[in-house]
Amino acid sequence: MKQPLTASPSARLSGRIRVPGDKSISHRALILGALATGTTRIAGLLEAEDVAATASAVAALGAEVERSNGTVAVTGQGVGGLRAPSAALDFGNSGTGSRLMLGVIAGHDMQVELTGDASLRRRPMGRVLAPLSAMGLQTDAGEEDARLPLVVRGTGDLLPIVYDLPVPSAQVKSAVLLAGLHAPGRTTVVEPLAARDHTERMLGFFGAEIATEDHGDGARAITVCGDAELHGASIAVPGDPSSAAFIIAAALICPRSDIVVENVLLNPTRSGFIETLLEMGANIEIVDRSEEGGEPVGDLRVRTSALKGVRVPPERAPSMIDEYPILACLAAFAEGETAMEGLAELKVKESDRLAATEAGLAACGVSVRIAGDGLFVEGRGEVRGGARVETRMDHRIAMAFLTLGLGARSPVTVDDVSMIRTSFPDFVPLMTRLGATFASC
Ligand code: S3P
Repeated sequence: MKQPLTASPSARLSGRIRVPGDKSISHRALILGALATGTTRIAGLLEAEDVAATASAVAALGAEVERSNGTVAVTGQGVGGLRAPSAALDFGNSGTGSRLMLGVIAGHDMQVELTGDASLRRRPMGRVLAPLSAMGLQTDAGEEDARLPLVVRGTGDLLPIVYDLPVPSAQVKSAVLLAGLHAPGRTTVVEPLAARDHTERMLGFFGAEIATEDHGDGARAITVCGDAELHGASIAVPGDPSSAAFIIAAALICPRSDIVVENVLLNPTRSGFIETLLEMGANIEIVDRSEEGGEPVGDLRVRTSALKGVRVPPERAPSMIDEYPILACLAAFAEGETAMEGLAELKVKESDRLAATEAGLAACGVSVRIAGDGLFVEGRGEVRGGARVETRMDHRIAMAFLTLGLGARSPVTVDDVSMIRTSFPDFVPLMTRLGATFASC
């Protein structure tokens, strides 16, 4: 059943909060823990449905997963040591979990069925099946239009490859690198623009031989040595910048706000949103920088700001790919046009985010258009709101438009907040603690 929620104009957000653990790092910590020998202890693992699905999947494949006192311990089976699950693996809403696990399954001589919810069953899987099939994974599905549910068969004789990514996708890169751990020799992925690099960083942290070579203009080649041995490690998961984005945005548009978001991941491959906000004139200070589990983190102080429209270059897209819906909402509060280009990948996320964002903004009285794979928002300094927005089974569309409603002149209702539990179950209570007003209807 759908759960609608209304966000009402709010002012003076204040206080200090910590956002939950980064979703991308959480998936990877579980997966590498399952492939390592010994026990991996993960502090701050994201407790949300997407990550829970990955935890269930690694347990079904033979890793031990135990929770105690806020820490999750994963005892792995070593690279190539997982076993066939007794039932289909259900990844729920999670593209990351399902695609990364396809890379792992590829290196095991076993047959596995993977499935997911209605949103995930619509998303393209051919992008991971193409390189994995070249390495030896078998599947009945045609690569072009492959969708879950899928039955795949891995092999103990995977071949290493050199793969030129046709799209800048961290999921595809990671699936190939994870498969490469199981193949003899070197597996290389060449990416046209740097996508998030948590897999590379964490593989090094677990003892894999991995090297990154800069090819100029953002392109790079990542090579992993196969027949790898990974050793269990201790990981502290930093706060998720993609969840922090909604809180930062709310503080920027709600009058007289002054907040601190603690322990936010500041990895440069994830920082495009902050970079863009600073160009728009946002009052954001990074106070207190440190390092958490091999990743840069910091506390962010954010105050209400007058924003101006900017052009966001297409090459920045991979470093803020999940933040475009909330950036587009913020752009409506800025003065002048914000041009966001190179957004083709937004069409294949949990929903078609290009279309969902355009429709939501238009319903709220914002002047917006899609041209090619770009999104153009004409900011007028304020937003009418007073609309009901369709979230299309997409957690980030739900949070983006609830945030917009907090800064708009009239309340905004989103038709369904239930999917927020896939990434940020405490979104509403945390925002409420800062002073935001929501009402169920
Ligand atoms: C993710 C990569 C991105 C992002 C997703 C998480 C990851 O997808 O949109 O939310 O953890 O690797 P793509 O790699 O498909 O761009």
